[in-house]
Amino acid sequence: MPSHPIIITLDGWSSCGKSTLAKALAKELGYVFVDSGAMYRAVTLYFLRRGVDLSSSEQVQKALAEIELGFVFNPARGASDIVLNGENVEPLIREMQVAEQVSKVAALASVRKFAVQQQQRMGAAKGIVMDGRDIGTVVFPGAELKIFMTADKETRVQRRYLELSAKDPTISIEAVRENLERRDHMDATREESPLRQAHDAKVLDNTSLTPTEQLHIALGWARAAIG
Ligand code: DC
Repeated sequence: MPSHPIIITLDGWSSCGKSTLAKALAKELGYVFVDSGAMYRAVTLYFLRRGVDLSSSEQVQKALAEIELGFVFNPARGASDIVLNGENVEPLIREMQVAEQVSKVAALASVRKFAVQQQQRMGAAKGIVMDGRDIGTVVFPGAELKIFMTADKETRVQRRYLELSAKDPTISIEAVRENLERRDHMDATREESPLRQAHDAKVLDNTSLTPTEQLHIALGWARAAIG
């Protein structure tokens, strides 16, 4: 790790490749990569399993108090899997059932407070790349490098469809499009920490970039910020 580790935040729309870039960037720099969306997904999975009524702040608070989140490095993925109360739930949190509920759960102020506190603790030593929606605006407003990622909507739908249909061939592209549009809308219009481009973020539109090209651009920014 370089002598002056920094914090790199990567925010942007659903399925525009934030995690792919964050993971590659962290590997190149020897930094820790944290997928903050996985935390909201794991909370959602717990709420679904327990049948938590999202309109009851009492039920939400009680359930949050029962949750312990952690990460464990998975060498096969070259990234960390999320652990919910001792159970590795990485594959489960990527399922459609969770995707359909997660934006509602992530809009709750108590859930955001719970997640943000843990995210800030993880970044205390710097040397971290974290991706999400509010990382550059709320979690680490003082981050040394902020990247805002975007890509054409239809490109994002196609990428997400390819990923999900490989696991579940019955899934339709319309269902994927509908879910993505709904999540984009909810993430950008919610009251609590909506998706916003930080005023000092660098914009990366990867509609026609390969993963190698986008990594090259981001690495240039990172090396300039590290100095
Ligand atoms: O990045 P993702 O698709 O795995 O995120 C899942 C959901 O969690 C998404 O609908 C937005 C929400 N999220 C959030 O509100 N804030 C974050 N920092 C990360 C994700």
